[in-house]
Amino acid sequence: MPESVDRFYHLKNKAVSLVVDARGSQPAIAYFGARLANVNEPMIEQLDRHEAPASLPVEPAVTLSTTHGMGYLGHPGLAVHRGRNRWQVNPQLVACEASESELRFTSTCERLSVEITHCLRLDKETGVLALTTALRNTDATTSLSVDQCLVTLPMQDHFTDAVELTGRWGYELQQNRFQLPHSSLVRENRAGRTSHHLHPSLKLLSANTTLDSGDALDIQLAWSGNHTIRTEQLADGRRVLQAGELLGVGELELLPGEGYTTPECLLCFSADGMNGLTQQWHRYVRSNYGISDDTPHNTHGSVLKQQRPVQLNTWEACYFDVNEPTVLELIDKAADLGIERFVLDDGWFCGRDNDQTSLGDWQVDEHKFPSGLTPIAAYCHKKGLEFGLWIEPEMVSPDSDLYRAHPDWVLGFSNVPLIEARNQLVLDLDRKEVANHLFETISDLLTEIPISYLKWDMNRDIHQMENAQGQRAVHRQTLALYALMARVRDHFPHVAIESCASGGGRMDMGVLEYASRFWPSDTNDALDRIAVQRGFLSILPPELMGSHVGPSPCHLTGRQHAMAFRAGVALWGHMGVEADIRALSEDDRSTLEAAISLHKEHRHLLHSGRYVEHEQIAQQVAWSVVSDDQSEALSAVATLHTPTAAFPKRIRFRGLDASKQYHVQVVWPQGLSEKQASYRDQLKSQRLGGDWLQQAGLTLPIMHPESLLIFHLTEV
Ligand code: GLA
Repeated sequence: MPESVDRFYHLKNKAVSLVVDARGSQPAIAYFGARLANVNEPMIEQLDRHEAPASLPVEPAVTLSTTHGMGYLGHPGLAVHRGRNRWQVNPQLVACEASESELRFTSTCERLSVEITHCLRLDKETGVLALTTALRNTDATTSLSVDQCLVTLPMQDHFTDAVELTGRWGYELQQNRFQLPHSSLVRENRAGRTSHHLHPSLKLLSANTTLDSGDALDIQLAWSGNHTIRTEQLADGRRVLQAGELLGVGELELLPGEGYTTPECLLCFSADGMNGLTQQWHRYVRSNYGISDDTPHNTHGSVLKQQRPVQLNTWEACYFDVNEPTVLELIDKAADLGIERFVLDDGWFCGRDNDQTSLGDWQVDEHKFPSGLTPIAAYCHKKGLEFGLWIEPEMVSPDSDLYRAHPDWVLGFSNVPLIEARNQLVLDLDRKEVANHLFETISDLLTEIPISYLKWDMNRDIHQMENAQGQRAVHRQTLALYALMARVRDHFPHVAIESCASGGGRMDMGVLEYASRFWPSDTNDALDRIAVQRGFLSILPPELMGSHVGPSPCHLTGRQHAMAFRAGVALWGHMGVEADIRALSEDDRSTLEAAISLHKEHRHLLHSGRYVEHEQIAQQVAWSVVSDDQSEALSAVATLHTPTAAFPKRIRFRGLDASKQYHVQVVWPQGLSEKQASYRDQLKSQRLGGDWLQQAGLTLPIMHPESLLIFHLTEV
C-alpha cells in the first residue's frame, strides 16, 4: 500500500458516517449510513469473510469502480479499451488526499495508461455525499474508448425495497415502491434527455421503512442525458448499486491527455424514513444551489434569493393565438388578480401559428406584435409585473429559415430519413457555430427586451443521435447544453431560467446548476398534480416546483374541478396561473384572487419550511410545511376519491413540537359548506396540543371528493 494512503478513512457529520476501505488496490465504500462514533481497524477487518464453498479464497471487494479480471463477477462499473487487445484495466491506488469533508483517491493502470481519480465529498451540513470518478488517458499516442464508468457501491443487507420515480408525459414522477428483485434491477434511459419515464434517482428502503421511521437511502444522478441505475445481487449474497451516464458504443473516446469526469452521483441517507430523506434533500438543494449565500453551485444567487413571483403563463390561456391586444388584456387581468410575472409562452415568433413551423426563427412575429415585445414588457412593468419569455433553443422546425439556411446543423442518422417528433429536429449543440448562433440569438433577445425569466423548453427525445462526423452525440449534446446555459446564466445573471421538456422531461440535479425552476408536468389537472407534486417534493423543494392553476375542464384529462380545488393545490409550489383569465366567472375570479393572496401571505413559510407528509389513509392525503422553529405550519388534507365512510379520517400531524399549543384555523377554501363553516367556527376558540395533534389527530368535517382543506397552525 502506498505510504500516503491510510488503511481506511472515516468522514462524518452529526448524522451520517462514510467509511472507505483503502486496503486493496482500489478504494471501496465500506459503510455509508447513520453516524458511527468511532471506527477502528478490527471493524474494517471484520468486513472480510471466510471462503465460501465453490468460490474464491478471498471475496473480491466491491470497489468504487468494479472491473473484470481481478475476481469480481458482477456487472463492471468501469470498462475501457484501446483496440482489441488492450481492455484489461487493473488500477492500483497510488495516493489519497484527505480532508474533513473530502477524499480524493488517485489510481493508475499502467497496462492501459489510465489515471483514475475518485472524489468523495461529504456535505457537512446535510450529510449528502457527492461522488465523481475522473478518468485520464495518459497514453501519448493512442486514444482510449470508455465503454462505461459507473460508480459502484455495496448496499447494506436490510435495504430490500426501492421506490422509483416513473411516469409518462402528463403524469410524471409517480412513486412506485417495490421489492428489489433477486437478480438485477436495470433502469436505463436512452431518451437523450432526463426523460419522463425514468427519473435518475432511486430510493432504497428497508421493508419496514415508513414515512417517518426506518433507514432510507436515495441516489440521484446530476445528469440530463442518458443514464443508468442498477442494483444487482451477487452470487455471494451481496447487493450492489451502480449509477452513471449511459454511454453508447463508441460514444466516448479520450484522445491522448484527455479526461472524462462522471456526473455527480449524490447519496442521501436518513434514519428517519422518507420524510427525513426529503427534508435532507431540500436542505441540500437550498444550501448548495445558490438559494442562500456562498453556495458551492453558485447558480443564480441573486435570482434565487428573491421571492418567487406568482406568474401567468399564456399556454393554456390561448396557445399559439397570442398577439398584442390579447396579451395586453391578459396583463391587465393578471395585475388585478395580484399576479407578479407575465410569461409569454410559445407562439410569439415569426409565423409560429401552430407546432409545425418556425422553431429556430427567434424573431418577434410582426403580425402578432407590430411594435415588438419591448412595449409589452414595458406595459408589464407599468402594471407591476415582470416579463418572461418561452424559448426552445435546441430545436429547429424543418419549415424554418434557420433550417433552410443550415440543413446540416441537425443531428441525424446515416442514410435514414430524419425522424421528426412534434414536427421538429434537434440541433447539434456541440458544433461551435450552432452554439454561438444560439447564444447570440438568446443574447439579442435578453438585451433588447427587458426579460427576467426564460422558460427553456425541449420538446422531443433524441432518437437520432449522429453528428456530422458520424459520432454518437448524446454525451456531447448534454455537455454542450450545459455550456450554453452557463453562458446565458453568466452573461445574464438576473434572468431566472425554468427547465421544461414537454413538462417534466428534464428535472434533475445536473440542470439545476443553470435553472431555478422546473415545470414538472404539462398536466394542470389538480387531482393528478397532487401525485406529481408528491413525487417532485420527495426530492426537490417546493420553491423550485412550478405549479399552475389550469382551466376546467382540464385540457389533458377532461376532468372538471372547482376553482377552489385547482387553486388550493397550485399554491403549494412556485404558484402560477395558466388559464384564460379573461373568461373567468366572477366567482372563480374572486376565488383565484383569494388563493393568490393566501399563497403570498404564506409564501415565505412555503418556500423555506420543512415539508412533511402525513400518513395516507383511505382516499385522503395530507401534508404540511412547518417553520424551522415549529411555531407555525400550513397543512392540507385532500380527499381524492369518493370516501367510503361518512367522515374523513383524523389527520395525525407530523413535524410539530409536541410541547407547544397550537391554534388551528381553516384558511381554505373560502366557500365552506354549512357544516364545515360551523366546524371552522368551533376551531376558532380551541387550542390544541402539538402532542394531541400528532397522536390523537385532528377531527375533520365531511368533505367532497376532489376537494381540499388548508389549515394554518400557529403557536399560542
Ligand atoms: C411544451 C411545454 C408546455 C408549453 C408547450 C409550448 O409542451 O411543456 O408547457 O410550453 O411546450 O409549445
